[in-house]
Amino acid sequence: MGTTRKYAVIDPATGKLDRRIFSDEAIYDDEMEKIFGRAWLMIGHESLVPGPDDFFHTYMGEDPVILTRDGQGRLHALLNMCRHRGNRVVRCDDGNAKRFMCTYHGWTYRNDGALEYVPGEAQAYYDALDKVSLGLIEARVETYAGIVFATWAKDAPSLEAYLGDARWYLDTVFNRRDGGMQALGPMKWLEPVNWKTLVDNCSDNYHVPTSHLSSARVQTRFLGRPPLSHEDQFASPNRHAFVNGHSLTFRDADDNTPRYMHGMSSETMRLFQEYHEATMPEVERRLGALRARRVQLGNHSIFPNGILGLRLALPRGPLKTEFWHFVLLDRDAPEDIKRAIRIGSQANNGAAGMFEQDDVDNWRQVSLASTSRLGRRHPQDLSMGLGHAGLHSDYPGLVSERYISENNQRLFYRRWEEFMNAESWADIPLDPITARFDGTATMLGSPWSLPP
Ligand code: FES
Ligand SMILES: [Fe+2]
Repeated sequence: MGTTRKYAVIDPATGKLDRRIFSDEAIYDDEMEKIFGRAWLMIGHESLVPGPDDFFHTYMGEDPVILTRDGQGRLHALLNMCRHRGNRVVRCDDGNAKRFMCTYHGWTYRNDGALEYVPGEAQAYYDALDKVSLGLIEARVETYAGIVFATWAKDAPSLEAYLGDARWYLDTVFNRRDGGMQALGPMKWLEPVNWKTLVDNCSDNYHVPTSHLSSARVQTRFLGRPPLSHEDQFASPNRHAFVNGHSLTFRDADDNTPRYMHGMSSETMRLFQEYHEATMPEVERRLGALRARRVQLGNHSIFPNGILGLRLALPRGPLKTEFWHFVLLDRDAPEDIKRAIRIGSQANNGAAGMFEQDDVDNWRQVSLASTSRLGRRHPQDLSMGLGHAGLHSDYPGLVSERYISENNQRLFYRRWEEFMNAESWADIPLDPITARFDGTATMLGSPWSLPP
């Protein structure tokens, strides 16, 4: 502690937010160091590297990273930068290789990162090169239910502590089945938006009846989904919760219906209902009755840049974000369910998704507003629901009274401040884990997980 507070961008008493955080170059540089340089970041899924010596190319913030599974089955996250001059040692999206050879001078690394071979080690270097200290830079890696996270911070807490009670909610999607999940994708595209505008949006249910009016009408007409109005949203018994920077929206209803997911329609509803009922005993064993039968996770984000499931918002400058859209499926689900989800997911989100296109237009405008000299003098107003959130006896985290609230947005920017003002992880507070994790599901999930 004892650091000089540098950032005060959100006023918790009024919800006023300084717009400069969406376009200022210096702030962006600081974010890369203080947020993306120290947080646990989602980088992929174990199903993308299922076998020994598989690798998948990914990113931690702007840094290119190779996710590898070595010959012993262990996962590594390696900075894709040759320790000599800096060339990338992997130039493709994925593959299977025991070694990576840099194509500049031929330094060759094992897939656990160790520098194994240097041309001319005896002659050119006179055997004086300290190869042991020149392996690829390695991040810490941990997994949650098959989702791979990595951090550059040696002093970061465990991933379990980082996710904290958010996992109580996340389990209801990611940790349901004994067979685990599989990731398809990613679909990748670039947008001229600041990465925070879409993380903020993951808990914004207020925009849905307005921004998505035409998309929702199409869904009502062709897929048989119920119409969506502001009145429905205001009366909704659904909630928001916030834990350690992670924003969660959820439904609590004891009505024996499957959680809504893309791909459900009047045509496919029977399939989803049958799947829900057939798998319920297994899900209840894994999660306990409350979470299996009643709590249904909705839109959510994992701090800093995980958005709506295994989807990433990779920063590419203050006004540019690369989207990575994966589809996550229960590995043991029937093929017709997987097909419906795959098609539905792309129709809603992804580069050509109806809903995504509505959203992106909003995020572009929010980002651009922050570049206006005049506009910057006038902060965003995030005052909705001030004073109407707190602890709840049934649900972990800080819970808002209504489904329509800006409580999660205020807390997200406060979390942003906590990271940006911290000297080290010792300055970043973590909520204690207090939730009751009924059932047999653990952090590791199954079955991609490795033996200890
Ligand atoms: S830059 Fe990689 S071997 Fe020289
Ligand atoms: Fe939206």
